[in-house]
Amino acid sequence: MEELKNLYLIGFMGAGKSTVAPKLAERLDMGWIDVDDRIESDAGFSIPEIFDYYGEEKFRGLEREAIRNVSKGEARVVAVGGGAPMDDKNWERMKETGLIIYLETGPQEIFNRIGTDKSRPLLAGLDNGEKMEKIRELLRRRHPRYSEADLHVKCNGTDPQKIVEDIADKITERMTGGKD
Ligand code: S3P
Repeated sequence: MEELKNLYLIGFMGAGKSTVAPKLAERLDMGWIDVDDRIESDAGFSIPEIFDYYGEEKFRGLEREAIRNVSKGEARVVAVGGGAPMDDKNWERMKETGLIIYLETGPQEIFNRIGTDKSRPLLAGLDNGEKMEKIRELLRRRHPRYSEADLHVKCNGTDPQKIVEDIADKITERMTGGKD
């Protein structure tokens, strides 16, 4: 039987990573952490403030550092910010220290979930049409990397508890030697 490692939840903003992480952790009796929360508590600023005051590049550096830190220690569920997998160092580290799980959502579902949310600096200041265009463009670029994940779970309109059960089944299957 394979040993349980970190379970990295990846996917676009609004895919439900932060909602699913604590539920999955409870289901599997593990700890959990949200990388964005860790960045905010380490920096003492919110994510929009970090983008505003220091810019995206600085944020990506803090994100890399936070992922390096959370990748160590005992296995837990880790909710990872939507842009983090695009960094090769982050990707390699996650591959080496855990199982990567892609919560897959389409652009319209993402827009419905986060279109009015002010906590996403990448969509700040855009009108609805521009937001939709930006979501489509980022998703086009990110989907190939997200698709390299070890496990995929379709999340369009799906109840978070159902997603948790899907993931738990896939992990159990994998750990007992079955196929994804
Ligand atoms: C980002 C996603 C956000 C946060 C930051 C940048 C991105 O996290 O890390 O605003 O590049 O997609 P969520 O995916 O948890 O919203």
